[in-house]
Amino acid sequence: MHKRHLLVAAAAALVAGTLPAAAQTFPSRPVTMIIPFAAGGPTDVVARIVAESMSKALGQAIVIENVAGAGGTTGSTRLTTAQPDGHTIMIGHTGTHAASVALYPNLRYHPVNDFSPIGLVNTNAILLTAKKTLPPNTLAEFVAWLKANERTANNAHAGIGSVSHTTCLLLHAIIGVKPQSVPYRGTGPAMNDLVAGQVDYLCDQVVNVAPQVRAGTIKAFAVAQQTRNAALPDVPTTAEAGLPAYQVVVWNAMLAPKGTPEPVIAKLNEALRTALADPNVKARLTELGADLPEASLATPAGLRAFLEAEIAKWTPVIRAAGVTASN
Ligand code: MLT
Repeated sequence: MHKRHLLVAAAAALVAGTLPAAAQTFPSRPVTMIIPFAAGGPTDVVARIVAESMSKALGQAIVIENVAGAGGTTGSTRLTTAQPDGHTIMIGHTGTHAASVALYPNLRYHPVNDFSPIGLVNTNAILLTAKKTLPPNTLAEFVAWLKANERTANNAHAGIGSVSHTTCLLLHAIIGVKPQSVPYRGTGPAMNDLVAGQVDYLCDQVVNVAPQVRAGTIKAFAVAQQTRNAALPDVPTTAEAGLPAYQVVVWNAMLAPKGTPEPVIAKLNEALRTALADPNVKARLTELGADLPEASLATPAGLRAFLEAEIAKWTPVIRAAGVTASN
């Protein structure tokens, strides 16, 4: 064998010998899960439900760390600087790991190349919601109201590139308006202000919306998907309510830093899949209106391909809307 090939073979043997040991001892201490938004919001809620079950499968605590800011890109950047040993992971989403590429000209990470994907966690429907005292009661009335009040209407969101920002951008592009934008560190705090009547409307994930709509503290005009959401069966779809072009589904994904050993990723993935099969987790997510992923997407390879496809899907949409994080 050529000397270079011998060296490569020796290195591969060394790696093969050490990786199973890393997986055998992993996790040797509590795992930190970075949530790139404020506590109490949709990412945080899903993460806490899944992490509780995953920690039982892993035999170690999972500590949630909320690292909010810049539409979720601050927490995502933080993960890329963590030790790639599986003890620091995160939950990102459509905003942080797809829309961010087109929105942030100076994004400090690549959503695929700088991460080790673990698996897709769930998908979430988006609902157009408003404060209870806003005059319109239907989607058609809301569209007319927004056109008439474009200069003064307040759209709450979780920062440039967040899901709430990006999905309302789509709505604005369809309606042809550019209203005022009010950024928060997550839609947990944004929802609190919507309930308090401090802001006018919010495009938000069903897991954050369902409890408030059931409690009657906010209005929901429509769900932006083809079928009604089982958690809110009285809320019409955008097609039923007269705006069929507004369709968007978002997702949460679990990721580790680039370079995390494959057997460690496999162990984290197994724990994730165990959690998603846990009847208690299923019941809690379903009650909040979240959907579990197809089995093929709850895998590292499935998630990697999915992220690449989502970046390719969102980049032209954001570019067409003419928005960047700097404007
Ligand atoms: C959150 O957890 O606050 C959200 O996922 C924010 C968003 O992206 O709209």
